[in-house]
Parts: sequence; C-alpha cells; structure tokens
Amino acid sequence: MVTYADRINSLPPYLFAAIDKARAESIKKGVDVINLSIGDPDLPTPPHIVEAMKKSLDNPARHRYPSYEGMLSFRKAAAQWYKKTMNVDLDPENEVLTLIGSKEGIAHIPLAFLNPGDTSLVPSPGYPVYNIGSILADGKPYMMPLLAENDFLPDLDAIPAHIAKIAKLMFINYPNNPTSAIASIKFFEEVVDFANENGIIVIHDNAYSEMTFDGYKAPSFLNVSGAKDVGIEVHSLSKTYNMTGWRLGFAVGNSDILAGLGKVKSNVDSGAFEAVQEAGIAALLGPQDCVRETNLVYRERRDALLAGLKSLGLPVKPPKATFYVWAHVNGSSSEFAKMLLEKAGIVATPGVGFGESGEGYVRFALTQSVDRINEAVERMRKLDI
Ligand code: MLT
Repeated sequence: MVTYADRINSLPPYLFAAIDKARAESIKKGVDVINLSIGDPDLPTPPHIVEAMKKSLDNPARHRYPSYEGMLSFRKAAAQWYKKTMNVDLDPENEVLTLIGSKEGIAHIPLAFLNPGDTSLVPSPGYPVYNIGSILADGKPYMMPLLAENDFLPDLDAIPAHIAKIAKLMFINYPNNPTSAIASIKFFEEVVDFANENGIIVIHDNAYSEMTFDGYKAPSFLNVSGAKDVGIEVHSLSKTYNMTGWRLGFAVGNSDILAGLGKVKSNVDSGAFEAVQEAGIAALLGPQDCVRETNLVYRERRDALLAGLKSLGLPVKPPKATFYVWAHVNGSSSEFAKMLLEKAGIVATPGVGFGESGEGYVRFALTQSVDRINEAVERMRKLDI
C-alpha cells in the first residue's frame, strides 16, 4: 500500500492534465473534438530555430551535462533580447538564469524563499503553478482576487496589513493568463512600493510579453525603477516562438533572488539541454518576423471568436495581448465547460480551475484555425447558453 505525503494528497490533479483526460475520453468515443483549452500553440516552431537545433545535435560537446545556470552564450542572448525588446540592462553573468521552461522556475522559486507556513501572495484566477509551487514548499498561498471591476489587477490596498507584513513572495503576471488583462507601468510602480514597504520578493511572469495586438507593447516589470531591488521576471520561449515542447525559459533581475533559485535548481536538475539552448539563441537573436506573423494569425482568430461569441450573447472586450479569451458565462464554469465538451465536443478551460475568483468565466485558447473556431461557434449556437 502506497502512502502519499500530505502535500501531494492536498493537491488537485494539474488542471490541464485533468482536462486532457476528459478530452482523450471524448476522442476515444469518436467525437471530433475542438481543443481550445491549453495554451499550446498549434503553429510550428519557426524553421531557423529547428535548423539551429539540428546543427547543434551533431556537436558531441552539446551532449554532455549542461552548466547549471545555463550556457553563457544563451544568457548573453537573453540579455541582448531584453535590451532590444524591453530596454532593460542585464548582466548575463548573474542577472540571467536559464530555466527548463518557465513552469519549472516558477515551481521551484517558493522552495528557495518560503519556510514551512510562510505566506505567498497568489493571483486568483492565475496560472495554477504559483499556488501549487507554494503548497509544494509547505507555504500558505494567500489569494489576491483579480476582478473585472479592477481590470483584473490585484487590489493591493485590499490585502490585510498583517498578511502583507508576513508575506515573503508575490506572483504577478501581465499580460495575464487566464484573463488576458494588461498592466501599466503605474501598476508595476505600486507593486515595487508595496514590496519595499513589506519586504516582499516579487516574481513577475512575463511569458506573454510578445503576444500582443493592435500596436500594444507590453512593459517589463524591470522597466520600473527599483524593480530589480525587489524582484525578478520569468520568461518563456514557449509562446513567443511556439516552443512549448522544447522546455526553455529564463529568469532575469535581482541576482540574489536568482542565486536562491539557482541553488534549488542545481540540487534538483542538471540544466537545459545545450542543443535546446542553442536553438533558443537562434530564436532570441534571429529574425523576429515570425513573432509578428504569429500575432497576426492570433489576431484573426481572436476577432473570429469574439464576433462569434458576441452573436451568441457572450460579448468580450478584445484582448490586447495573450492568446486567451476570457468569457463571462452564466452559472458554474465547470458545468459550462462540461456542457461544451459533452454536447458540442469543445474543450475550454473552466475559470474556476484557475482559482475561486475565476468562477463565472470560461477561457478559450486561440490554438485552432479560424475555420475550426467558426465551427466551434456554430456548435455552440445549437446549445442553450
Ligand atoms: C495554459 O494553458 O495556461 C498554459 O499554457 C499551461 C502551461 O503552461 O502549463
């Protein structure tokens, strides 16, 4: 008989693993499933990045253990990319740390900064790993509700003073998953002030910074003066370069915070495959037309889905960033998502899966062609929604 640790018993199944199971069961039953759930780009990794990986694979030097903090050449590329895209200066030696995907970094951060029982501030709804990583470190997540009336930004004044005083970590994420909300520099300045007042480490997940539309440019948390004193920003190549399967990301900012995360990582993993890092260099330093072209594809899909949802009486404001559409629905989001799957073969993510304050919403990921999105809308039209 196997006994799991309490921390594992208290965890729900990973949101997208549970959804995947339901999807697979429908496919087994012969349903033509339209998958709008996980944010996994359906477009291929651009060819110049794939070519760089192929070339790197032929070099036996790349087959050995990577360095724990990542190749200096990759960290230099990340710093150069940051300067070009965000106008942030970084020292590649100690202000950039390679990650095996941003999920890995986010999950490990609480191990470096939370003692058992310590509080972390976690957005709800939010990417599930902020909460799960805190629980795995025996920490106590305190939920910051992201509400429509606050443009899906946490209300820092609503965090009780005694919680702010004991909190060690705060996770934020703009452009936001799952709400697709954006944040201004002013909000980031308020976060820096809040962090300074309360001695809190800020982790800004900026995985969607490049997935923007209609001329919008997402800022970096590190654009704010003093941000590097209190926090780091986590990045992923997954969404920007359609590289979810490659597992490559990086964290930048405060060198002491990165050193803490690096210490955890050096003890539990052996770094990102160097051939993948060389592909990452090609992504970060190579031509960026692929990013612009991908965004045009998502914009067209966004507009198709929004027009369809509007015609169904589910209007959504056009998001300026991310490939998610966060739609308000009647009643329970789980029931709504269940109905979509069972009656229309559509997989969407129930908002409550991202935290209690996600209840009443369903998230659609724009990971299908316009034709399939239109097909999904026509299937929904036949339902009573
Ligand atoms: C999402 O769909 O929210 C994310 O892509 C899932 C993930 O990165 O694990």
